This record gives sequence, C-alpha cells and structure tokens, in this order.
Amino acid sequence: MYAAIQKGLQGADIHYVQGDLIEVAAASRDAIDFLSLSDVPSYFEGAQERDFLQRVRPALGPDGLAVLRSYLRIPAGMNTDGFDNVTERFRDVVAQEKVGVYRVGIYQKRSEA
Ligand SMILES: C[S@@+](CC[C@H](N)C(=O)[O-])C[C@H]1O[C@@H](n2cnc3c(N)ncnc32)[C@H](O)[C@@H]1O
Repeated sequence: MYAAIQKGLQGADIHYVQGDLIEVAAASRDAIDFLSLSDVPSYFEGAQERDFLQRVRPALGPDGLAVLRSYLRIPAGMNTDGFDNVTERFRDVVAQEKVGVYRVGIYQKRSEA
C-alpha cells in the first residue's frame, strides 16, 4: 500500500495544513476534486454535522467528490442538497476495503443546471 501511494504521489506538490478540516477546505482557493473525510464527520454534531457538506460545496470543483468513511457512529441528518450520492458507482472499489468495519458514503457535487 505504501509503495503504491508513494508511486501515485510522484511529482505531486504536497502542502500540510493544520486546522479545522471544514474551514480549511471551505477557504481553499484551489478547486477541490477529492475531499477525504475518513472517520471524521463521525465526530461532528449539531449544525456542523448537518451542514458540513454545504460549507465545503463552493470549494469543490465541478463533479468534485467528498468521500466519507464512518465507523462507530454514522453521521445523521446531513444536508446533501446539491450532491448526488454516487456510492453505488464505486461499489467494486469499496468492496476492496478489507478492514470490514467501515461504512463508506461518496457524494458528488452536482453541477449547476
Ligand atoms: C478516528 S480519527 C480518523 C483518522 C483517519 N482519518 C482515519 O481514517 O484513520 C478522527 C480524527 O478526526 C479529527 N477531527 C475531528 N473533527 C475535525 C475537524 N473539524 N477538522 C480536522 N480534524 C478533525 C479528530 O481529531 C481525530 O483525530
């Protein structure tokens, strides 16, 4: 896995940012194609749990993806307006996840009509 990641990142320009993931993503000046939220929204509650996808939506590029991986707690009541749940499209990839305890949800930004 490490070797595959290392190979995939060749030539990539990596920036490390410490902060609130949603605030940092929402403020990004580069359009985000892929937002990995691996077992992070499980820790949200209240308005943050409901609205985090709406907060990051303007920063996502056309057809940008937000990938949620949840374990003990599945986020509830998320406002997914402006997104399509495309999890089923990635069923084969998700099936390769071998830990076996995670629930994956994949949301794609719906382009404006
Ligand atoms: C269970 S860990 C997940 C770690 C890793 N992403 C994974 O999938 O194994 C959840 C982490 O999310 C962090 N977290 C929760 N809310 C966050 C936020 N708004 N911004 C950045 N990190 C956050 C917590 O501090 C914790 O380290």
